[in-house]
Amino acid sequence: MKILSIVGARPQFVKEAIIQSEINKFDDIKEVVVHTGQHYDDNMSGVFFDVLDMRKPDYNLGISASKHGEMTGKMIIRLEEIMLQEKPDVVLLYGDTNSTLAGAIAASKLKIDIAHVEAGLRQEPKDMPEEINRILTDRISQYLFVPSNLGVENLKGEGITEGVFFTGDVMYDIFLKMKPSFDYVLMEKLHLKENQFIIMTLHRDFNVDIPEKLEKILKEVNRISKEIKVVMPIHPRTQKRINEFGLSHLITDITVIEPIDYLQLMGLTQNCYKVITDSGGYQKEAYFSGKQAVVIMPDTGWRELTDLGLNTLSDENNIYQNVMKAKKAEYIKDIYGDGKAAEKIVSILRIYK
Ligand code: UD1
Repeated sequence: MKILSIVGARPQFVKEAIIQSEINKFDDIKEVVVHTGQHYDDNMSGVFFDVLDMRKPDYNLGISASKHGEMTGKMIIRLEEIMLQEKPDVVLLYGDTNSTLAGAIAASKLKIDIAHVEAGLRQEPKDMPEEINRILTDRISQYLFVPSNLGVENLKGEGITEGVFFTGDVMYDIFLKMKPSFDYVLMEKLHLKENQFIIMTLHRDFNVDIPEKLEKILKEVNRISKEIKVVMPIHPRTQKRINEFGLSHLITDITVIEPIDYLQLMGLTQNCYKVITDSGGYQKEAYFSGKQAVVIMPDTGWRELTDLGLNTLSDENNIYQNVMKAKKAEYIKDIYGDGKAAEKIVSILRIYK
């Protein structure tokens, strides 16, 4: 069997890493990896391949653009060429980025089966690019690998029941696998003490592209940073917006650092007090790490965690309050499977293809 895997953005490298290590166990599967180039800075891309022990992609398309249509369109053109040349049995896609959607469109036009890892997630606002990407990809996938029970229900509600497999979450697999290698060097470098700092990540278009909203968020976090240290590995998009909107004065008390690799972020997370984030993946990694997250989103695809009271959704006006209030919530383990999602995904593909 030949699998063509498509990655492009930071969270997809993490998911691909565990699938790749599973595929490597079988001589009868060949995997071709295509990196679209959506994320291109070394600290957003290359470093992940190094620390997660992945081989270099077979193709790197070097496609990135600020306009989503242009980016997706260019990707479709190149991915179609590669699919025609490589003739894969199945195209493997991850998550909800523009690279995911481009792969889905290119494969569907060539009638190549699509396997979607992290299928079934749904959230508001419906017009956020990621929601559009995941709905469209699920619609035309033949294999839908779902990380949570809620995901299965979401698909059922849309009439999608065929090819749906509850596998658990590949991000939990990699978390367990890499835990012994988490990197704690930043604790010392940034003079951090256990439970006495917050980690914040922010990059969603609906949070960072509107000047008034970004300003409100940063003001709240600035207030928090007067009471507890806030460490913010900054996404390039957010850095650009802060500069553009003249908001740099609001981050002077925050420990702003360059984007960090997976092992470093997980190392910090094991020791932090809480997490503030608008990342889909990181709100869940906080849970894996036994930490509460304040999620700056109107909704989340990982509702199990907010229903349990472990994570809290917050708008831009209540971040301080949500972070500072102590919250008792029962920690329930293994909501996202048993750490064997990648094994299940690869064995399902071997059986059915
Ligand atoms: C993308 C995904 C999002 C995912 C996120 C993880 C889409 C629609 N969104 O959002 O689902 O959660 O990745 O980070 O696909 N940039 C750089 N260097 C880089 C990467 C990006 O400068 O290495 C700049 C880009 O030029 C662009 C901006 O950051 O101006 C945003 O990048 P883009 O890939 O469009 O979306 P993300 O916000 O990263």
